[in-house]
Amino acid sequence: MTHPGQANDPLPPRVVDALRCSVCGTPVGLADRTLRCAERHSFDVAKQGYVNLLHARIPAGTADTAPMVAARVAFLESGVYQPLAEVLARLAATHAGDGLIVDAGAGTGYYLAHALEAAPKAAGLALDVSAIALRRAARAHERAGAAVWNLWEPWPVADDVASMVLNVFAPRNAAQFHRVLAPGGLLVVATPTAGHLRELGDLVLDVDERKDERLERTLREYFTRTSRIEVTNRVEFSPELIREVVDMGPTAHHLTDDRRARLEALASPVDVTTSFAVSVYRAVTE
Ligand SMILES: C[S@@+](CC[C@H](N)C(=O)[O-])C[C@H]1O[C@@H](n2cnc3c(N)ncnc32)[C@H](O)[C@@H]1O
Ligand SMILES: [Zn+2]
Repeated sequence: MTHPGQANDPLPPRVVDALRCSVCGTPVGLADRTLRCAERHSFDVAKQGYVNLLHARIPAGTADTAPMVAARVAFLESGVYQPLAEVLARLAATHAGDGLIVDAGAGTGYYLAHALEAAPKAAGLALDVSAIALRRAARAHERAGAAVWNLWEPWPVADDVASMVLNVFAPRNAAQFHRVLAPGGLLVVATPTAGHLRELGDLVLDVDERKDERLERTLREYFTRTSRIEVTNRVEFSPELIREVVDMGPTAHHLTDDRRARLEALASPVDVTTSFAVSVYRAVTE
């Protein structure tokens, strides 16, 4: 779904309309590949098509790095997470309408591109702190735009602009989800379940269950869950695929020499469980 010819397109107009100046919060306009607000704060659109709205440093280790992004691209191209993409696309087809889908922590834009393909009148905004990942996301779909931002800070996005917020294995800022969603909008959160990749054992980190509970509590202040879809499959992972799934995640930084050696020595495929929960929420108050 990559459209290489569109690498130099500016941000789609509907995305520009939804963005706000990250310094003063006012609307921005696009001219000569620069976003500018009335106060003349300006942000250049990179030649790869994304705009960097950050003006503060982000903590080291927050953004996905180039090797992680390369591993993620190769892994996702294998199609093993496509069943999840299809569930998200079906939700977009029925709920995104002609609105904006904001993908919070979009990475390379893989899921956003599937959602936009299924919702032919919607536009998409990929937010992520990794500029390297957003080089891909900016080209992932012709109706998508991408902006570098730290999701833990108030988002440079207008109130009530999104018909859908997507959040796939990425930080969850419930207050901002709520603020940017239009009345009647849907929040769609995908998380791995406890059984996800269990056959890979200590090569991949355990889901931090308590952190997850805490996040659920914050979400519940703003949202009520209307459905939960579980997407579970058994897939044969080649040794290469296993190395990619490890290298695309945070585990890559924490592998002991012993685990790295085991990973490198893998020679035969392993049947692996992939298991995700897709939770759909509506705002408690709108
Ligand atoms: C596990 S990846 C998931 C990416 C994408 N949703 C996918 O599934 O392919 C987590 C993403 O969150 C981004 N991220 C982590 N912390 C962030 C933050 N504070 N603000 C914005 N993005 C963040 C990372 O750069 C990375 O792209
Ligand atoms: Zn401004």
